[in-house]
Amino acid sequence: MPYELVVVANRLPVDLTLGPDGSLSWSRSPGGLVSALEPVMREADGAWIGWSGTADLESEPFDADGMHLVPVCLTTDEVEEYYEGFANDTLWPLSHDVISPPVYHRHWWETYRRVNRRFATEAARHAAPGAVVWVHDYQLQLVPAILRELRPDVRIGYFHHIPFPPLEIFAQLPWRRQVVEGLLGADLVGFQRSGDAANFVRVVRRFTDLTTRGPLVAVPGPDGTERQVRASAFPISIDSGRFDALARTQAVRDRAAEIRASLGDPQVMLLGVDRLDYTKGIRHRIKAFGELLAEGRLRVPEAVLVQVASPSRQNVEAYQQLREEVELLVGRINGEHGTIGAVPISYLHHSYPPEEMAALYLAADVMLVTSLRDGMNLVAKEFVAACVDDRGVLVLSEFTGAADELAGALLVNPHDIDGLKDAVERAARMDPREMRSRMRKLRRRVMSDDVRRWSQTFLRTLEAAPREPLA
Ligand code: F6P
Repeated sequence: MPYELVVVANRLPVDLTLGPDGSLSWSRSPGGLVSALEPVMREADGAWIGWSGTADLESEPFDADGMHLVPVCLTTDEVEEYYEGFANDTLWPLSHDVISPPVYHRHWWETYRRVNRRFATEAARHAAPGAVVWVHDYQLQLVPAILRELRPDVRIGYFHHIPFPPLEIFAQLPWRRQVVEGLLGADLVGFQRSGDAANFVRVVRRFTDLTTRGPLVAVPGPDGTERQVRASAFPISIDSGRFDALARTQAVRDRAAEIRASLGDPQVMLLGVDRLDYTKGIRHRIKAFGELLAEGRLRVPEAVLVQVASPSRQNVEAYQQLREEVELLVGRINGEHGTIGAVPISYLHHSYPPEEMAALYLAADVMLVTSLRDGMNLVAKEFVAACVDDRGVLVLSEFTGAADELAGALLVNPHDIDGLKDAVERAARMDPREMRSRMRKLRRRVMSDDVRRWSQTFLRTLEAAPREPLA
């Protein structure tokens, strides 16, 4: 059955697993994209095309939580070359200031092309005549152009969740022109920040012969026609109401008190929550905390750090190396500054459900977001949404998309360890009146700007996108 709205993303909004008896079961994966798109999907009777998260798993389309899901099967080799390889060892570091050196392998590129074609073919099969197809993120940058070739009748939107690199860095990519042409298959290309959209337009001007005017690119179509592609910023948000509501429940409030008690009721609980990724500046933050302890500017057990580092992309070498480095550093600081019963850093290599996250946010006094580069950083917004008592300070890297929006945070350059230490100390000692006034400002922004509004704004802009030539 064809659908009026088709979402295409690397992952499905559920994880599929094969039981020992060969039966398939699914569980909801708690990503932000699901909560953003679920209401629109239900309303529009939409379908979601994506990978199940397990290699070699074949499954027919099925319905889950009122959504039509179409699994795309990836073989073990494809997971290695398309997902771990080209997406996460080439495009990911290239898009994050080459913090880790991008790896360029021609066979990874070939697999990326093949897998992108598979996603586009599924989208073409499931889209109704004139449907809207919304493609997500860097894993699928070739899908818009392939889909346009297969189905010129559909309206195609693409949203890039991560930073779009400056021209001088993007230029390294051996397949830079093909990637740009892939994206230009869309009618609307969305980015987190206006700087990302500007980078993209610069790259279009440099690597194609196309004409651009402001955010518009004129792309020749069949038979001498021309269409316009718009590149603009649509900063993503979170399901703010959900975190606010969770943080008001008695169960979460009790759990927050329990967390503080189990840490020895510190005066200052610092919190970091990240995927264990080299873009997040986890080592910089831990180093700064260690030096503050060494200099006696913070003391254990009055000040402690809880660092949640959820497992991520564990087959990629750069992630394995990061884990070793972080764990070595945590061990060293705990060894030097800990005493029996008083541990400076509680390091948790786990993922937690939203209820536990809300309790951690509510329990914390200071949230540390020190990314070296980050498309948006949703953790910063989740923390603010959970601070229902207007208590808590956000220390936020200026290299996140969130820094453009979150006035009220203490902005830091995480490379400047001394500056970072000063900001952490200032946050830890902040006068309650200043804290409240900053947090209120933050909450006004986060609570009014939620992810449903983001998806509606994107889809409305896509539907209104002009298709006629540039004047
Ligand atoms: O930020 C980009 C992103 O792909 C998110 O959409 C996702 O939540 C995160 O990175 C982790 O992605 P994955 O586990 O699929 O590699």
